[in-house]
Order: sequence, then structure tokens, then C-alpha cells
Amino acid sequence: MWEKQILLLPGPTQVPPKVMRAMAAQQINHRGPEAKEMLYEVTEGIKKVFQTTNDVFILTASGTGGMEAAVSNIICPGDKVLVASNGSFGERFVKICRAFGADVEVLEYQWGEPINPDDIAYHLEQDKKHQIKAVFFQHNETSTGVLNDVKAISEARGNHPALLVVDAISGLAAADLQVDNWGIDIAICGSQKAFMIPPGLAALSVSERAWELVERATASRFYFDLRLAKKFFEKGQTPFTPALSLLFGLKESLKIILEEGLENSFKRHEMYKNMVWAAAEALDLEMLAPREAASPAVSAIKVPPEIGADDIVNKLLNDFNVVIAEGQGKLNGKIIRIGHLGYVDGLDLLAGLSALEITLYRLGHDVTIGAGVKAAEEVLRRGG
Ligand SMILES: Cc1ncc(COP(=O)(O)O)c(C=O)c1O
Repeated sequence: MWEKQILLLPGPTQVPPKVMRAMAAQQINHRGPEAKEMLYEVTEGIKKVFQTTNDVFILTASGTGGMEAAVSNIICPGDKVLVASNGSFGERFVKICRAFGADVEVLEYQWGEPINPDDIAYHLEQDKKHQIKAVFFQHNETSTGVLNDVKAISEARGNHPALLVVDAISGLAAADLQVDNWGIDIAICGSQKAFMIPPGLAALSVSERAWELVERATASRFYFDLRLAKKFFEKGQTPFTPALSLLFGLKESLKIILEEGLENSFKRHEMYKNMVWAAAEALDLEMLAPREAASPAVSAIKVPPEIGADDIVNKLLNDFNVVIAEGQGKLNGKIIRIGHLGYVDGLDLLAGLSALEITLYRLGHDVTIGAGVKAAEEVLRRGG
């Protein structure tokens, strides 16, 4: 097996060599002065990416740990919550909320559709007694390649006091997310997406309004207790031993992200999305998401009926060392997903699209070799 792969997954993503070198450093005392300086530096960096002055806590956990931390820290068993679910990660929020005893109202969408902010407005308006404590949803629904309109959903909340809890694990740094301007109470991110470091870190931003619930929540919590995280942060520490090597990597990756600038990063990811959409159109492939809600981080393409999704994925790996993802849950076998976030460039994507064209041809699908790549190249030439 070749070491070289073109990793086009919606996470884990490719890791820049600078970040890998940083992660190879010797361990340090996690309660010493160097760790304190690093923790404060990376926390400030994440705040910039979240576009917030709210408290931010870094957890040693995968993204789901961040989701669990958000739920367990604001819920009292029996509390009403609203989960807007338009994919596999929306379902995960439903499961976590139920696991912590919440009374969950699910606003369910077809997988591939975006959340309609009017539905949120309607549900919250019906809740005259303000029993709904929080609204949970995804910024970017990775399982379907749909970017939800967080700003519009926040506006739809109106004067209802429910907290907004946004899973921005795969969307952050690829698409705009303005935690403060859009009034997001808890936003969650994960390391193995546009942060370009390996899996194992999650981070949460916590608004003042959210803190009121954190102080009162009675759901079980221990490892993810944010009250403890806050107490230790004041000393420049985390309650438990953090994944130091990942923090070394995060320090470097934040430098890369902030040096590029968020606006430039969003534009770059938009261009990748446009490249995949142009290629798909030229190859007569149908996309799952509607164009106006298409994700800049991951694109979901419907698989032509005569071909198996796993045949495409396996052949891409075996013939070209190109790694893409299959569909999750009920979309398994129906779509393929091309991740284009973080440390990818236009040529990685062109290579992946070229391999996809040839693979479809080899599997007997009627494609004009070169048509998809030409269309994607045109987007790359224009720069967007
Ligand atoms: C939107 C979203 N939420 C949550 C998760 C779960 O993160 P993890 O697999 O790191 O626990 C993912 C991972 O792909 C994701 O994309």
C-alpha cells in the first residue's frame, strides 16, 4: 500500500507538515507555565475563529464529546428542547438529549434538505410558556452536504429565551459562523475538520445566558463539567490531562488559519464547492443538496442507479489512492461524499475529480472523460 493518499474525507482531513512537526515535540508538564501559556494562546485563537468574546473551553474528546458537553451542561431531566434534524448528526443530537433525560421535540427534515427557519419560528411561537430551554442543530450537516442558515435560524428565535446550540464541528472555518453577532449560546467545533489536526479535541463557546443554565443544570456530568473547566482555566489548566500533542498541533494550525484570514478561508472553500458542483453538472451527476444550501466543506453526490456506492469508493482507493466517504445511515449506498475542507488545495480536488471520472467510466457509467475536470478547472482558473 502506498503511503501517499489523496484524502478527500469530510474529516479526518489532511494535516499540514508544519502541524505534524509541531505534534512530534516532547511532552511538557500539563500543569506548568508552558502549558498555561499554550492553553491561553490556543483558546484566544479559537475565539477568533468562532468570532466571539464568550468563554471557550477545549476538551480532550472527539466532536461528539463536545456535543455531549453542550447537552449535559444545560439540561435538567424533563426539560423540553427542540432539535432541528436534517441528517445523521441531527439524529445524534436527538439521541444525546434523550440520553440525558430531555423531553425532545424533533423537527425532522428529509436528509438533503436545509432547516427552514420559519419552522423554528413557528415552534417557538407556539411555546407561549417558554418551556423550550434550547434549540439544537448543525451548522454544516456533514452527512448530507447541507449548510444550514444559522443567522436566519437565530433571527427566527425572536424574543424566545431558548438557547441556540450549534454543532459547527464540520463547518467552522469553512463557512462563516459569527457566534457573537448571531447570538449563538453554545457553538461546538472539532479538531479533525477545517482545523487540520488529528481527531481528539473539541471546543465549546459558552455565552453568559448559557452560563445561567450551566450553573443550574442537574443532568449527570463529570468529565465534561464546564464549571470545573472554568475553575481550572482560571489557573491556566484543564481539569484533566489534555491531549498535549494535539494542542501543539492546534497552536500551529491556528496560525495557518488566522494568517490566511477567515474571509479568504471561506472563499477558498466556496471555490471547492463550486468545482465539485461544476464537475457533477458536466458529468450529469445529481447532487443531494439544493444548490442554495450546498456546503462549502463537503459535497454529496447521488450515485447513478446502476453502480454501487461502495464500488466507487473502493475503486477510487484501490486504483488511485483517493479516499472519499460513503453515505451514512439511510443514505448509505445512495450517495458518495467528497470532503473539501481544511488542508486541501484545488489540485488535490482536480486529482480526485479526475479519478472519479475514470472510476465511473471503468464501472460502466456513460461519462465523457475530461468533461468534469474541465468544468472544475474552469472554476479554479477563475478563482471561484
Ligand atoms: C457535524 C458533525 N457533528 C458531529 C460529528 C461527530 O464528531 P466525532 O466523530 O469527532 O465525534 C461530526 C463528525 O463527522 C460532524 O461532522
